[in-house]
Amino acid sequence: MLYSLYTRRLRHQLIGLPKPEHVAIAMDGNRRWARGAGYDDVRIGHRFGAEHLELFLNWCADAGIRCVTAWVASPSNLRKRDADQVDYLMNLTETVLAEHVRRDHRWRLHVAGQLDLLPDSTARALKEAVEETRDRPDAGDLTIAIAYSGRLEVVDAVRAVLDEAAASGRSLDEVADSLSEEEISRHLYVPGLPDTDLVIRTSGELRMSDFLLWQATRSDIEFCDLYWPAFREVDLLRALRTYGRRRLERSS
Ligand code: IPE
Ligand code: MG
Repeated sequence: MLYSLYTRRLRHQLIGLPKPEHVAIAMDGNRRWARGAGYDDVRIGHRFGAEHLELFLNWCADAGIRCVTAWVASPSNLRKRDADQVDYLMNLTETVLAEHVRRDHRWRLHVAGQLDLLPDSTARALKEAVEETRDRPDAGDLTIAIAYSGRLEVVDAVRAVLDEAAASGRSLDEVADSLSEEEISRHLYVPGLPDTDLVIRTSGELRMSDFLLWQATRSDIEFCDLYWPAFREVDLLRALRTYGRRRLERSS
């Protein structure tokens, strides 16, 4: 009751404030949440976390946010964590995540990251979901960042520029002369999206950890102390309110 009143009040406070077009979320703290909730198996935290993303997407859609990037794992998460945790996370990605976007017609799926680091079945499930959701005309854009490193994305983009130049017979001098921000942007994993305006990281970690680099240089960052599965709609609305007020102040 109180919660729904507070939610309504926050929604009301957002009216007239600038709204981020693109929100990115680093869903951190799943294992700590599981331990705190008394589960011995920390993978339960990842299950709750994956299901929580569905709620988050609903809240974003309700708040009129049409572009969301969600960070599932970095290359080093995949390399360094126990195989049973990584397998479980991949399984969740194939089932909960890919299945959800297939069913929820409000989103078109994109995938960002080093897909060759993923098990074949996970890469395939994601690619199929990308294909299946591609032609949804009025949908928003959801990017799943998986095996994703912001630095490697820039390296891959520059490599793609060079590959393209080599294929078209341009010299290195020509490439160097014409290299621009726009050209690198066009070669990111998911070209054509607006830059992120707001990055949210949960679990109280005050770091970017090689999440979005190129896209986030002008983003506001909101750090939230809650573990990801405990993040609520009011926490999103509060982050949007802080963002809106800051932007309003800066523009005046
Ligand atoms: C974030 O939750 C998701 C992944 C990196 C896979 P964590 O698994 O990092 O959970 P904590 O931060 O250890 O609690
Ligand atoms: Mg973590």
